[in-house]
Amino acid sequence: MKIGIFDSGLGGLVITKAFISQMPEYDYVYYGDTHNLPYGDKTSGQILAYTLDAIKFLISQNCGIIIIACNTATSIALRYLQQRFIPSYAPDVKVLGVVIPTVEEASLFNAQKIGVVATSATVRSQIYTTELHKINPNLEVEEIATPELVPAIENNNLEKAERLAKEYAAKFSKINSLILGCTHYPLLKEAFRSVLPNSVRVISQDEFMGKKLQDYLNRHIEIDITLSRNAEYKFLVSELNEHYQKVAYSLFPDIPIKQGGANNAG
Ligand code: DGL
Repeated sequence: MKIGIFDSGLGGLVITKAFISQMPEYDYVYYGDTHNLPYGDKTSGQILAYTLDAIKFLISQNCGIIIIACNTATSIALRYLQQRFIPSYAPDVKVLGVVIPTVEEASLFNAQKIGVVATSATVRSQIYTTELHKINPNLEVEEIATPELVPAIENNNLEKAERLAKEYAAKFSKINSLILGCTHYPLLKEAFRSVLPNSVRVISQDEFMGKKLQDYLNRHIEIDITLSRNAEYKFLVSELNEHYQKVAYSLFPDIPIKQGGANNAG
């Protein structure tokens, strides 16, 4: 069985890079639903339907553990997948998200106030506030939707994305930590950092998700022993263009990205 990774686009490749750096020996299948991107401004019903298609596709690719490396899809679909869909459709498959590991990481630093930047759908779900409050009910949490960032990144306008990231970051006051609650935002972490006081800790998922997955597999030997280790990596997107090819190449020059998968536009 392989490790499956799903994102609405290419942001999840940043997380995949963290997994592969930490554990290069495993086999990975990446699927980015670029055809339906951005998820952040879709309805919950649409996000759930796309995510369900993607998970079924990754299961058909022989993935025994699937990480939803998309905060938006995690916020809207993970609970349904774990509690309703997976137990009847593929009870041996494990589906995990990115929100809980991020909340665990953020909770290590005894913050009094935490800011969160995320897509509109993630902020609407209030998942970060809910999960952070489970750990510390007295924590102050401020979530700000940053809907213009993903389109700017995906359209290759990094300059605009950086300018916007700085404007969004400047809206927070008196935070101790800022969670980058979207897998595209590690690409902007320096822009966010540049306008925040040095004392503010920027929680960026690329920096800890590799370690988190490794810890998880160490604690779940029953899953780990089912995973194949041929260092084979397969990267698929539902719609491929030159820009996506360039982004993928900049992260993984040796691994070709191909069009395919559940929501194939071709
Ligand atoms: N990568 C997604 C996330 O982590 C957001 C991108 C989108 O809006 O599709 O939330």
